[in-house]
Amino acid sequence: MFDLNNLLRENIKKLVPYSSARDEFKGEAQIFLDANENSFGSPLTKWYNRYPDPMQMRVKEKLSEIKGVPTENIFLGNGSDECIDILLRAFCEPGKDNIIICPPTYGMYEVSANINDVQIKKVPLTTAFQLDLPAIEEAVDDHTKMIFLCSPNNPTGNSLHKEDVEIILNNYFGLVVIDEAYINFSRYRSFTQELNEYGNICVLQTMSKAWGLAALRVGMAFASKEIVQVMNKIKPPYNINLASQELTLKALEEIGQVNNMIQEIVTQRGELVRQLSGLSVVQKIHSSDANFLLVRVTDAKGIYNFLLGKGIVVRDRSKVELCEGCLRITIGTPKENNELVMELNNFAQQIN
Ligand SMILES: Cc1ncc(COP(=O)(O)O)c(C=O)c1O
Repeated sequence: MFDLNNLLRENIKKLVPYSSARDEFKGEAQIFLDANENSFGSPLTKWYNRYPDPMQMRVKEKLSEIKGVPTENIFLGNGSDECIDILLRAFCEPGKDNIIICPPTYGMYEVSANINDVQIKKVPLTTAFQLDLPAIEEAVDDHTKMIFLCSPNNPTGNSLHKEDVEIILNNYFGLVVIDEAYINFSRYRSFTQELNEYGNICVLQTMSKAWGLAALRVGMAFASKEIVQVMNKIKPPYNINLASQELTLKALEEIGQVNNMIQEIVTQRGELVRQLSGLSVVQKIHSSDANFLLVRVTDAKGIYNFLLGKGIVVRDRSKVELCEGCLRITIGTPKENNELVMELNNFAQQIN
């Protein structure tokens, strides 16, 4: 059985969290002399002299409406990268515990684990970029605290089979982190609607992709109230600054505009697949549920450098296991995509 208490690090169980001035004061007041802020104001017109709401309640209330998840099940991080780091610090004893990741996948799980001195067990995806369930079962030991799954996966772009994820959720008693950074571009439903089914789930999403707010650094974790409480205990007191909270709230009012952008990106993804398929330098376009394509080309390094020379940056993934010869290409605007295709054509002609 999943038991949060068995999973948590001892020091985290005992941790008395920092209590900030804004945590301790609840109610109405006119004069704030509790937090050593600058009482005279700020050089900006805004009230940036005051510390922001540490629990970001207004943002969470709006997110709760949009996502259909109660606020007590939502944690906000400084990007989902902070959520990843906090989960590792909450559950994994440095030098003792381990996590499972399924490469090729998002690089920060490994980097964050390395920073926290947490051992990484790699169970590669199959050649179809799906989970290798027997190998995952084999890899789990008494110190495996978390399995990181990324769906749609970066850099492959595909979604993991839901039934495979459910098998892990039902049979593994550690925490299953499902990174859904690209879920808005996918045909499949989010696991956020299944928080009540599984106590051991933590779904990560982000404002950086579909919402177009990568610069604001706002990531989300959706999990049981108990897991969210643990994450809140560990986070720096004011991890989401006021400007990001305000701008996120404003953006959350524009869901119609964001849905239009998502539709346009998905349309452009189809269009780019069509255009790329006609090119001699393109060998394979992997099917994508994300806002990028993984494309195997005849000469990844040569094409990467050629494009760079033309001012177009893509991601060279050709040295990554199972992505040999591949470039990862983000879906651009129609104009950007056309330029990319034109330059790929130029490259093809140059070598002929
Ligand atoms: C799968 C995945 N998760 C998380 C992130 C990081 O998101 P954030 O900007 O919220 O830190 C990325 C960024 O590329 C990603 O690809």
